[in-house]
Amino acid sequence: MAFTRRRVLQGGAAIALAAGFGNAAGFSAAQAASPILRAGEGLARLAPGDYPETRVWSYGDRVPGPVIRVGQGERLTRRFVNDLPQPSTVHWHGVRIDNAMDGVPGVTQEAVPVGGTFDYDFTLPDAGTYWYHPHNRTWEQLARGLYGPLIVEEADPPDVDRDEVLILDDWRLTEDAQIHEDSFGAMHDWSHAGRIGNWITVNGKGESRLPAKRFERFRLRLINAANARIFYLSLEGMKAWTVALDGQPLDAPQPVERLSLGPAQRADLIVDITAGEGEEAFLTSHEQTRDGEERFAITGFPVTGVARDQSLADPQPLPANPVPALGDLSSARREGLQMEGGAMGRMQGAMMGGGFMAMRDLAGAGKVWALNGRADMPDTPWITLTRGETVRIAMKNDTAWPHAMHLHGHHFRQMVGADIGPLRDTLLVGQGESAEIAFVADNPGDWLFHCHMVEHSAGGMMTWLRVDA
Ligand code: C2O
Ligand code: CU
Repeated sequence: MAFTRRRVLQGGAAIALAAGFGNAAGFSAAQAASPILRAGEGLARLAPGDYPETRVWSYGDRVPGPVIRVGQGERLTRRFVNDLPQPSTVHWHGVRIDNAMDGVPGVTQEAVPVGGTFDYDFTLPDAGTYWYHPHNRTWEQLARGLYGPLIVEEADPPDVDRDEVLILDDWRLTEDAQIHEDSFGAMHDWSHAGRIGNWITVNGKGESRLPAKRFERFRLRLINAANARIFYLSLEGMKAWTVALDGQPLDAPQPVERLSLGPAQRADLIVDITAGEGEEAFLTSHEQTRDGEERFAITGFPVTGVARDQSLADPQPLPANPVPALGDLSSARREGLQMEGGAMGRMQGAMMGGGFMAMRDLAGAGKVWALNGRADMPDTPWITLTRGETVRIAMKNDTAWPHAMHLHGHHFRQMVGADIGPLRDTLLVGQGESAEIAFVADNPGDWLFHCHMVEHSAGGMMTWLRVDA
């Protein structure tokens, strides 16, 4: 019997969302300078009760890892304890962070060895929805369950009845609900869409339910923690607005019925439950299959009771974060980024180490993609920017696959002709498409720029830039 996803429509107990911080076994709070974030092996109930629990790697002994909540402008300290069987680091995705705390092995720190620790300590300039995950062998460590939400609260948060994090993941499980290990490193995945799974979870549950009341207002913080899956989502039985993308507020709330969420992207929604008492509202995932589109309800909101007798007034925008405004775009520096490779692409080969390698030899070395003609991480920065300068980057996706391009340490805006898009840290660039982004390089240090389909970045879609101090 194949292990296939079930529809939550068909039942399942309501779940309580785990939050807060668990202390690791063997460490007492008194021993630690700061709270511990321990990564280790464990078990998680990802699949229904007739399947065994799944052996995972997790933070704080749970999947997802503990929800870390901090006030805007506050400091976050965590002592990372590595009880994994591999070196690891913690990357705080989307945070305009001190470079030394960015968690990139070989760039901002050494990988934390097995049994080692690292003290993360930084301030959070921006409110919004972020997340944390490893940055070493991410294609394995993320797929095994290492991720968690990082929520930075506004001093004056919007008026909602409930604020809920929904962190989405896509697992590749065997028939006995274990992580499919044989396909780690499979070049077929690396050269195609990445590791696409067969089991979707929301907050670590295959059957996720949030009981709701009619006309109740939620803030839903959606986070895509999958290795490679782009989620195509719709909302049923609710009226919804997008109020932030990748943590950063939109100038005005945008009514939304369908949205796509690429790997690592986030969307903050304000939703009013409009389904009636006894009905259920849904967050639904749409998937292309051989026979067309299939829809899976990935979170259900069964409605019992009434919160008020009509919807609240439309939501107000969230307060903007202190991200610097773009400088003059006509005089801004311009750079290009050529994305090449993958299956059904045209790439003949690329630079690797000191010389040019043909596609077949690259594949033998685990590289199947290239950025600007290079398949490995360059020793020297792709570009060096002057602190405070505005830069425009024109990306050309000359591949047969979409990519989720992520810049560390900054947020950028997409430019579409004369239109300037919302702030983001991760942008989907469709197959064959071009996209231009602009940002102010105000954060000194060495910053990665890579595809967040993590098999693609490991397979060559990773480079870095330097912002001079
Ligand atoms: Cu989620 Cu290099 O990042
Ligand atoms: Cu990619």
